[in-house]
Amino acid sequence: SDPGLVDRARAAKAALGDRVFVLGHHYQRDEVIQFADVTGDSFKLARDAAARPDAEFVVFCGVHFMAESADILTGPDQAVILPDLAAGCSMADMAAIGQVEDAWDVLADAGITDVTIPITYMNSTAAIKAFTGRNRGAVCTSSNAQRALEWAFEQGEKVFFLPDQHLGRNTAVLELGLSLDDCVLYDPHKPQGGLTADELRAAKVILWKGHCSVHGRFALESVVDVRERIPGVNVLVHPECKHEVVTAADYVGSTEFIIKTLDAAPAGSAWAIGTELNLVKRLALAHPDKQVVFLDKTVCFCATMNRIDLPHLVWALENLVEGNVVNRIEVDPDVAHWAKVALDRMLALPG
Ligand code: 13P
Ligand code: SF4
Repeated sequence: SDPGLVDRARAAKAALGDRVFVLGHHYQRDEVIQFADVTGDSFKLARDAAARPDAEFVVFCGVHFMAESADILTGPDQAVILPDLAAGCSMADMAAIGQVEDAWDVLADAGITDVTIPITYMNSTAAIKAFTGRNRGAVCTSSNAQRALEWAFEQGEKVFFLPDQHLGRNTAVLELGLSLDDCVLYDPHKPQGGLTADELRAAKVILWKGHCSVHGRFALESVVDVRERIPGVNVLVHPECKHEVVTAADYVGSTEFIIKTLDAAPAGSAWAIGTELNLVKRLALAHPDKQVVFLDKTVCFCATMNRIDLPHLVWALENLVEGNVVNRIEVDPDVAHWAKVALDRMLALPG
């Protein structure tokens, strides 16, 4: 990356000192992640966001829903900053609050809202998290989806899982032992979600029809292909991948799990990784004693994660030095209250 910009980022961070706390998700670019005080997956960053209550500015190098959650979990005097406001998430955009409220009405008409617990993946807007909190539900991330679903089945008989159908299905079937027939897919673009009241009443898990545009691209053929190319390869994928890909893989887990698994792997072992490319490239560099390859043949960055680049980070930091708080993410207080209820239920899950 541009040495001038690296120097400017360093100087701005030094000038701000303890007043700034920089968080970086594992999918961030190398040029950005080098300036993070803490790196992590979505869960670790949600937990760590409140770790520095003294910091006036929390600069979030990640995407919009993560910055919203950080705003909800940090103090009122702390400003959360997203260096590029266009860093959204296509999956979070697949569940609009109006659509979700309409779906809840459809579930009410089927007479099942009393026994249904909503669980929303972290990758959703604050409004969806607030809906979940208001309706006895919890947030989950890819590292605690199993515990969140087990908790939900202690509270009720059914789960309404938003917005990632793949994480919901993979967790229900592979971790909880439910069958594919226990899951139905609610399509917000069809009347009544494309489901009859009887189908809704028979289901154990109602999956929202959303997906990650990055992880959704990994195909079963890539798993078959890499096993042919690299005999003995271990296939390690993120649970946002399709069910057929996760089923064919050897290991499945969040970005933090992927990093720890590679750390613990013996020298000489071979790994094909199905997650975002910035992370896979860093893992390959960090493990020269192991063969680490990207699961797919096509390039697979998350375009919105990549929007946070060094020029945007420098711009945000230098503005803070000059006393201008740019790109602040502030969640409406009522939404924040109920979203926090759902986030706190996740943070209280055992383990
Ligand atoms: P985790 O950080 O939970 O692994 O999720 C990956 C992801 O897609 C974040 O946007
Ligand atoms: Fe959203 Fe997928 Fe990008 Fe994560 S990797 S921010 S889920 S589009």
